[in-house]
Amino acid sequence: MKTKTILLTGGAGYIGSHVLRQLGERGETVVTLDNLSTGFREAVTSGELVVGDTGDEALLESLFAKYDIDTVMHFAAHTVVPESVARPLKYYLNNTANSRTLLDVANRHGVRHVVFSSTAAVYGILATGKADESTETSPINPYGTSKLMTEWMLRDLADAGGPSYVSLRYFNVAGCEPSGTIGQSTPNATLLVKVACEAAVGRRPHVSIFGTDYPTPDGTGLRDYIHVEDLASAHLAALDYLRGGGTSTILNCGYGHGYSVRDVLRAVEHANKAPLVIREEARRAGDPPELVAVADRIRQTLDWSPRFDNLDVIVETALAWERKIAARDPTAYWAA
Ligand code: UD1
Repeated sequence: MKTKTILLTGGAGYIGSHVLRQLGERGETVVTLDNLSTGFREAVTSGELVVGDTGDEALLESLFAKYDIDTVMHFAAHTVVPESVARPLKYYLNNTANSRTLLDVANRHGVRHVVFSSTAAVYGILATGKADESTETSPINPYGTSKLMTEWMLRDLADAGGPSYVSLRYFNVAGCEPSGTIGQSTPNATLLVKVACEAAVGRRPHVSIFGTDYPTPDGTGLRDYIHVEDLASAHLAALDYLRGGGTSTILNCGYGHGYSVRDVLRAVEHANKAPLVIREEARRAGDPPELVAVADRIRQTLDWSPRFDNLDVIVETALAWERKIAARDPTAYWAA
């Protein structure tokens, strides 16, 4: 009997590649679809890679004809918030319209489960700084809106008899797989941990703190940083949940506590055993002071135990990968 196949989109990217590696370790049969626009072929460590777009209906039809796919794990997306503000239609095409095409083909071929890569950006600016899954969604940028619309498509399709789904709303994902096989190589990174580690290894002259006058304990922004390996294992737990008959749901992915920008920079300095060149700058447009998950539902719903809920570990694994890139280690890959 042929084993059922998982179609994983975006498996050459940062989060998709970490999920793919864990699926491979567990012996799952996976085919990755990625257009390599920002991802890396070398990050696809398990199964076959098909290079193409999630919006390519003919290609999707051929994949569903060739493989016995019963689950889709959907990561492929544009993810740069400021770019989404400047080029909204690029985001609505890739993140929303192409997701619709994928769901349409998947549904026609009888796919039973979908695990979707969503974001805390669906919440927008929070009055309290904390969000649970019933907090009103009010995205403040097209990136968040483009993801929220896909959540809605999944909800409505499930209500109409389509696949059951779990939408995972990621908070601030950081760190890398601890053995250093794969990591985050996104070109022109803007995320704090990555940027700080690039500064630590001399690939940037300094790191900026965007805003020191927030109403937070040390005046800098507070975020819920989750290690990418824990985020990845949440996807496998979501898969098991759906296979076991779990009903469709939305889950925050965070640890439920926040760290400030200064906390993160201190952890990088500690891991690197050297001070960073830090510039204090004005607030970045659109940044909420605090964005932290109420993370009870995921623990109640999934069989998931985080293993890396520790800022030092998050930063150490991110820094180790950055050192590899900076040294042009042949076992790493990097942006050209
Ligand atoms: C990220 C996600 C967003 C998600 C949010 C959840 C992406 C592109 N963004 O955004 O979708 O909703 O997490 O919490 O994945 N900072 C600096 N200096 C820097 C960079 C950042 O001070 O060089 C500060 C920011 O002002 C913020 C914090 O660090 O306070 C985190 O910023 P960043 O890593 O860019 O992530 P978010 O903007 O929170």
